Amino acid sequence: MDNLRENLIHAISMKFFIDTADLDEIQEAADMGVLDGVTTNPSLMAKVGVSDVKSHYLKICEMVDGDVSAEVISTDYAGIVAEGRELVKIHPNITVKVPMIQDGVKAIKTLASEGIKINCTLIFNAAQALVAAKAGAKYVSPFIGRLDDIGQDGMDLIEQIRVIFDNYKIETQILAASVRHQQHLLSCMLLGADVATMPFNVIDKMIKHPLTDSGLEKFLADHAKMVNR
Ligand code: E4P
Repeated sequence: MDNLRENLIHAISMKFFIDTADLDEIQEAADMGVLDGVTTNPSLMAKVGVSDVKSHYLKICEMVDGDVSAEVISTDYAGIVAEGRELVKIHPNITVKVPMIQDGVKAIKTLASEGIKINCTLIFNAAQALVAAKAGAKYVSPFIGRLDDIGQDGMDLIEQIRVIFDNYKIETQILAASVRHQQHLLSCMLLGADVATMPFNVIDKMIKHPLTDSGLEKFLADHAKMVNR
């Protein structure tokens, strides 16, 4: 019985990451038992006003038992490699987030060959995903919400990458990013994304339904009538 939760969650292979640098939100999601990892980016770090980046990453890693993506800000090969090597010294959970640019791809090859976990970010087409996978990335992050924003269907991209990775038995995980609402999440699950990273409000909305609230209200009202009889 002790291992019941462990056995159950072991059977669930789709992972939920939270896309935030806000420690309160990370703790809240971790407490719900739904959190498998965290993604951050420079904009999210700036949003919460992080001054000491390394200690902030360390705090996140100590809160979550899973991969924590920390994004490099260099755009040249040497800079990305140097930053990546420094970031992984913070904690074993650190996954280095590298942008899909030519120097980034070269850096992925170098860092991955050193056993460093890489999340290749800012993926907007299937060819980019394939290149990142061939370079050795553990995750590719297609940004579905941002594709929707420019009038394309982000879900088509998830579907294409899934087919290509399955065709060639590529083990790189599809980390659906820029998830904006539950419908995105549902589609990701139906299409077989390995991971979805989402802001706290999407996790929060996942557990809510008006019929749950009204049903509970009625149960409690009926219980009160019974005990007050
Ligand atoms: C992923 O790792 C990114 O941090 C993120 O999902 C971007 O989402 P946005 O398009 O909502 O900024």
